[in-house]
Amino acid sequence: MPVPLVIDTDTAQDDCVAILTGLLDSAADLKAITMVAGNVGFDQQVRNAFLTMSVAGELGTVPVYLGARQPILRPWVSAENVHGDGVGGLAIDMSGLAPETEHAVDALIRIAAENAGELCIVAIGPLTNIALAAAKDREFVHNVKALYVMGGSNNGRGNITAAAEFNFYVDPEAAKAVLAAGFTTVIVPWDRLTLRDAVFDQAHLDEIAAIGTPIADFFTTIVAATLDFDRSVGIDGSTHPDSLTVAVLLHPELITASAPYHVDVETGSDLTRGYSAMSWGVHGLAPNAKVIEAVDADAFFRHIKALVAHPTVPSRPIRRPTA
Ligand code: RIB
Ligand code: CA
Repeated sequence: MPVPLVIDTDTAQDDCVAILTGLLDSAADLKAITMVAGNVGFDQQVRNAFLTMSVAGELGTVPVYLGARQPILRPWVSAENVHGDGVGGLAIDMSGLAPETEHAVDALIRIAAENAGELCIVAIGPLTNIALAAAKDREFVHNVKALYVMGGSNNGRGNITAAAEFNFYVDPEAAKAVLAAGFTTVIVPWDRLTLRDAVFDQAHLDEIAAIGTPIADFFTTIVAATLDFDRSVGIDGSTHPDSLTVAVLLHPELITASAPYHVDVETGSDLTRGYSAMSWGVHGLAPNAKVIEAVDADAFFRHIKALVAHPTVPSRPIRRPTA
């Protein structure tokens, strides 16, 4: 039975791969895409989501809802230095395309109520929309079967700062509130998990580039900007935490180690803003999340390679950046 899910995203680079998984994996029943302020300009993220659906030949099959255009308390923090525009300059003619008029927070609440106890939410950007939905409707938390979060680090290094991973850094108040809200939460962290099990090196990327499908070509282009940044900070490949988050929901057999943790997020310190304190059960703190500690990296790469090999017919021509 396909998993009913909503992907809440700050659509850039690997967010696009996560959306492709939701669109094309037969194990997924993607109900909606909800947009949150994160990686790149909000309206660019919206265009990136429509572009991604078009590449999959799925334009118009999944509604897009606009959510929070900035974090709850703090100014928006861009990751354009990491991702560029998030899609390597690719674009489609957006004429006639528009997101829904219902706000993403209201859509999340409604869709969870319509699929009470069945809907899974995959949050792969800052947790602003999720926190707002939980604050607006106390039934939301109980209607959501499970919340899969890409965020934080498990007693490891951050990325936007030494202490903090980007999604938790951008809106630490939202992350703290979501982790205290009572969701059944699964966390896919940056370090140790992503940096060890979800980095595609040049050999992996060459395998994908050689496939030659529209999605494989799209993948190769959209990861290029982030790959350059990753290498500039000592990561030898493109990072795929968002697509991993969807993958472990749809294919839990990928998970080789996980454990219950108590997870909380720093909001009071400038130095460690967004730091995720993940207690592994020896500090007298009741667990509030399952943290994924390891996945089968080879199986995950094969899963993404099979995804990008889908022989789709793009809904609209893809415009490449002029030289
Ligand atoms: O720190 C990695 C996360 O921040 C990913 O979700 C990436 O897309 C950015 O949102
Ligand atoms: Ca993201």
